Amino acid sequence: MPVKAGRADRSNGTEQPTIPVSELIPIAAVSRPPRTITVPEQERGVACDLDSYLLTPDTSCDERIARARERLGRSVVILGHHYQRDEVIKFAHFRGDSLKLCQQAAASSAEFIVFCGVHFMAESADVLRQPHQQVILPDLNAGCSMADMAELGQVELCWEELGEVLGEPVVPVTYMNSSAAIKAFVGRHGGSVCTSSNAGRVLAWAFEQARRVLFLPDEHLGRNTAYRLGIPLDQMAVWDPHRELGGNTPQGLRQARVILWRGYCSVHQRFTPEQVDAARQADPQVRVIVHPECRFEVVQKADFVGSTEKIIETVRAGEPGSSWVVGTEIHLVNRLAKELPDRRVVSLDPHVCVCTTMFRISPQHLCWALENLAEGQVVNRISVDEQTRQWARVALERMLELR
Ligand code: 13P
Ligand code: SF4
Repeated sequence: MPVKAGRADRSNGTEQPTIPVSELIPIAAVSRPPRTITVPEQERGVACDLDSYLLTPDTSCDERIARARERLGRSVVILGHHYQRDEVIKFAHFRGDSLKLCQQAAASSAEFIVFCGVHFMAESADVLRQPHQQVILPDLNAGCSMADMAELGQVELCWEELGEVLGEPVVPVTYMNSSAAIKAFVGRHGGSVCTSSNAGRVLAWAFEQARRVLFLPDEHLGRNTAYRLGIPLDQMAVWDPHRELGGNTPQGLRQARVILWRGYCSVHQRFTPEQVDAARQADPQVRVIVHPECRFEVVQKADFVGSTEKIIETVRAGEPGSSWVVGTEIHLVNRLAKELPDRRVVSLDPHVCVCTTMFRISPQHLCWALENLAEGQVVNRISVDEQTRQWARVALERMLELR
């Protein structure tokens, strides 16, 4: 299909990785939605005006999204993260956690990868894509506050200071939830990316390379994972990028095996150990399962900890009648509750815990992106510059090789 470059298009090329995909959850063919209020067809040439889409009610986008998706056929693959809302994820060809979606992006041959997730995920897909592919993020404002907490300049400064104080090798490991620039930094310095489902494996690998690890940008995932590997808390230091020497003494840094970047997820940091206590008090049979981005004290009190994929798997494997309290984003929790009406599945936080940036991907944005594609117009392309891509790819491939 001939494609005109649209807004935010900065194309480049790269080589194809040969990475096997672990099984993903294929979404059944999109069922035809009931006829609801349908907005009038857009005139040709007006289709790319996003403002008119934003005035369109959610449900009336269904038919249009399904039609554009069908028209695009195999030329498009829509990837959806578990935190996406129902109105969007029902159109995804594949859904998964960060790792699965990353593997799917690397293995897909579709010309267009439409990423219903956040910016760092789409960037990773662009780093791993094949030369003929383009990655689209339906709303460019779908960022991640945690990823924004580690800027390249800050990390470079930290690296320099660590080098001066420690005078021996440190292996950098970055969580998937970081910019392509940080991934490239890590790749250039012999490190790897990790996700919440393989952080233990990646950290174990890093300790085979050197005695010390710099873990970016999620303090909690780093601490929870290192502790599970047997590193005591007093051998972990926190690096605050806004303080001199990260807020540490040279001696404190020399004593540390893991240096944790001070970054966090504003959604997962809301969960508290008191909420776990309250859930157990209300129901002594309850099982508590949380994401490893939660604070150490919360993870310590939980029965299970795991990535979004792992959470889904574990609750699904529970017996009918079981009771689950889940510490992660609300869309995932609500979907699980709906899917498993024979057990109790509720959020650990009694007040809604929503990832507002994931929420930015709306049916209207998806409709806009797909209808433009169907008209031969690429909108909201995510394109990582060539040099960054090269090194970010090294860091991502190091992770993907660790099975
Ligand atoms: P997962 O890798 O578990 O899907 O987590 C991604 C994420 O952003 C969690 O906040
Ligand atoms: Fe980022 Fe937290 Fe949202 Fe995940 S849930 S995308 S870490 S802000």
